[in-house]
Amino acid sequence: ARMYRRQIICRSDIDSLNAPFLAIFESLIPPEEEKAKQKQLITLLERLVSKEWPEARLYLYGSCGNSFGVSKSDIDVCLAIEETDMDKSEILLKLADVLQSDNLQNVQALTRARVPIVKLKDPVTGISCDICINNVLAVVNTKLLRDYAQIDARLRQLAFIIKHWAKSRGVNQTYQGTLSSYAYVLMCIHFFQHRRPAILPCLQEMETTYSVTVDDIECAYFDQVEKLRDFGCYNKENIAQLVWGFFNYWAYCHDYANAVISVRTGSIISKRDKDWTRRIGNDRHLICIEDPFETRHDLGRVVDKYSIKVLREEFERAADIMQNDPNPCVKLFEPY
Ligand code: GTP
Ligand code: MG
Repeated sequence: ARMYRRQIICRSDIDSLNAPFLAIFESLIPPEEEKAKQKQLITLLERLVSKEWPEARLYLYGSCGNSFGVSKSDIDVCLAIEETDMDKSEILLKLADVLQSDNLQNVQALTRARVPIVKLKDPVTGISCDICINNVLAVVNTKLLRDYAQIDARLRQLAFIIKHWAKSRGVNQTYQGTLSSYAYVLMCIHFFQHRRPAILPCLQEMETTYSVTVDDIECAYFDQVEKLRDFGCYNKENIAQLVWGFFNYWAYCHDYANAVISVRTGSIISKRDKDWTRRIGNDRHLICIEDPFETRHDLGRVVDKYSIKVLREEFERAADIMQNDPNPCVKLFEPY
């Protein structure tokens, strides 16, 4: 049986792991030329789209817009369009048509996907791109994540390392019941809000300086993050300690039976309060991560009774490596 809230003292040589973890972070940052190529592709897409729909706009969302994108990420683009006499599938088919004509490769409209998209690959830059229609909430949560990243540099460091770990270990695949990158970044933000002293504030509990209403959901928070640059300064933990703490939290301290992590409130709330105690349809709520804006949405909903075991064993493996392994920076990321 697992033991919860086990008191573990961090290994004494943890500080010596800081430099190697920082080096891994640095190696994952996309180089400037890659950013430039992304911009080039976006400019091309904007030009093609505006020929057909002069009023439409393209927004970046996901990892290339939220600052948590590692090198060689695909780009996620949202087409914002007020088209009244076409439904989404028709717009997507039309969009695929518009893009096809200009030698882009593999332009494909996936109209039946959970999130319908047009997929394409740019032969010049080699970049793959997914374009969705009017997914404004994704654009807004992308801004929220980017704003959090600007408050404390350690958030990007931790999230890059956790994403890299999750990809290496095969636990970043929602179609196999493990978690999305978006979910992992929210787990990192929650962890920083929860740390004592706290490293991040809860922007949605502060004075509103930014507000939009999307599909009847009011998205409001404090976005003047340049004023919060000192927020985390009382916490002196370095990235190695935080990686250790993150895995320790998810291996031994999180109350999977009752707790929901909530970046929106900056705290933990109970499954009972959200009525997430029972399985409804395919939502089992075995690990509960509340979406900051779509509060009825549990990002852990993809996790099933098999994959929860896989995930928790991976958290425990990682916690054990961070505690005991002589060379955690290698062992942690070993392919599964
Ligand atoms: P990588 O592509 O792995 O680098 O990460 P990413 O940040 O692009 O994340 P991901 O592909 O998981 O998600 C893309 C974006 O979709 C997120 O940044 C969110 O803005 C948005 N999104 C909103 N709801 C969900 C959801 O339930 N699941 C996922 N995966 N994404 C969501
Ligand atoms: Mg992405």
